[in-house]
Amino acid sequence: MSAKSEWRVGVAGLGTVGAGLLNFLSERSDFAPAGAGARVTGVSARSRSRPRPVDISNLPWFDDPVALAASDEIDVFVELIGGSDGPAKIAVETALKAGKPVVTANKALIAEHGAELAAIAEAAGVPLLFEAAVMGGTPAVKMLREAMVGDEVTAVAGILNGTCNYILTEMEASGRSFAEVLAEAQRLGYAEADPTMDIGGFDAAHKITILAALAFGCAPTYGAAEIEGVEAIELLDIRLAKDLGYRIKLVASAARSDGGVSVRVHPALAPHEHPLARAGGALNALFIEGARIGRIFIQGPGAGAGPTAAAVAADIADVMTGAVRPVFQKPAGELKAFTPVDAAHTHGRAYIRLLVRDEPGVIAAVSETLAEAGVSIDSFLQKPVEGAGGVPIVLTTHAVAEKVLTEAVRRMAALPALLEPPRMIRIA
Ligand SMILES: NC(=O)c1ccc[n+]([C@@H]2O[C@H](COP(=O)([O-])OP(=O)(O)OC[C@H]3O[C@@H](n4cnc5c(N)ncnc54)[C@H](OP(=O)(O)O)[C@@H]3O)[C@@H](O)[C@H]2O)c1
Repeated sequence: MSAKSEWRVGVAGLGTVGAGLLNFLSERSDFAPAGAGARVTGVSARSRSRPRPVDISNLPWFDDPVALAASDEIDVFVELIGGSDGPAKIAVETALKAGKPVVTANKALIAEHGAELAAIAEAAGVPLLFEAAVMGGTPAVKMLREAMVGDEVTAVAGILNGTCNYILTEMEASGRSFAEVLAEAQRLGYAEADPTMDIGGFDAAHKITILAALAFGCAPTYGAAEIEGVEAIELLDIRLAKDLGYRIKLVASAARSDGGVSVRVHPALAPHEHPLARAGGALNALFIEGARIGRIFIQGPGAGAGPTAAAVAADIADVMTGAVRPVFQKPAGELKAFTPVDAAHTHGRAYIRLLVRDEPGVIAAVSETLAEAGVSIDSFLQKPVEGAGGVPIVLTTHAVAEKVLTEAVRRMAALPALLEPPRMIRIA
């Protein structure tokens, strides 16, 4: 396969990434280090007549992406439609079964069906590559899949959703509410009309599920991810966290321990000097912890036509060089699902914010409740905030079992002086 002088590429999906890829290939068909060229010999999208930022009038058109995937006119199939099921999945399965290498940017597909697709790819002896599915143009997948195989990765953690990072950064910078900044992001095209996948944490969960599978040699197990989004983050918490020296970020993390693999996405406070706190706007950032190499940090664009198409092109180049390796580090038949870690075995620090009536004895009641639950306080801040509708009390805890923290918050919620339920955000 690697001796071909030209690779015929079929591209299904001509939206942001697909159009970016066609533009790239029309300008740089000789980009691959293999010395061969890449030529688009088939395209598919929903609407043939839709105006696009790239001229497709001379390219063979397929109404059905599955027909393109099966076509004898292509050597490699690139799936840029999106969605965990439906035409994207059927087309990818069809291409793999026809013995064609597949490149995709589809995180939902890989996170939810990666193991079964890996089995089909390995049975057919063809690669299934998805660099663009995580962190867009920033090479996180290749880092874990290739560069870290000489080490044992113990944990990965980062900011994997640019939309949430943009919203949180703008809230802090402009003092506007979550709803206002989200509406602006939608107007500017940074957020989808239906932002649920992004702000609910599901997109980041797809991505960290893929990274966990690569890091630990497991089947991607999306259903095992604990997911909390940023919808409930209030400006008040952003301001109070700032006063304590922290910035709120949506952190996606995966860690391996004797108890299993924990995969989670949740808002977290990162100290101002922490690299994750410094990654602002739509940037993505990732830490990788290796037992031998130590800690690696990468940061870069996580989306956009140019960066994402570059990552797709890098995978096409890998196909052209002919390397075939297991999709998730181990042969597909040996992949096991993640075993989630019991909350009794996870420890951490937390920020807890209460809004209370201004009356004597409240602070004593809060301290007693925490002490009874077994939580020790690291710092305490009581600060009148204009327009808060009560007095915010903020405390940070020392590290404690998550189960204990949850119980402490449950008990505090019953205190009569509370004006609303306590807000707990973990500290990174
Ligand atoms: N945008 C990014 O920056 C980015 C970054 C990393 C990964 N990704 C991933 O890349 C993939 C593509 O994202 P995108 O932003 O380029 O999406 P997009 O702009 O919404 O484009 C989707 C494309 O798929 C086509 N399509 C939809 N349903 C189809 C069907 N049934 N048959 C054939 N074509 C169909 C659409 O056709 P029409 O154009 O005719 O409607 C459109 O061209 C997704 O998996 C996404 O998660 C995107």
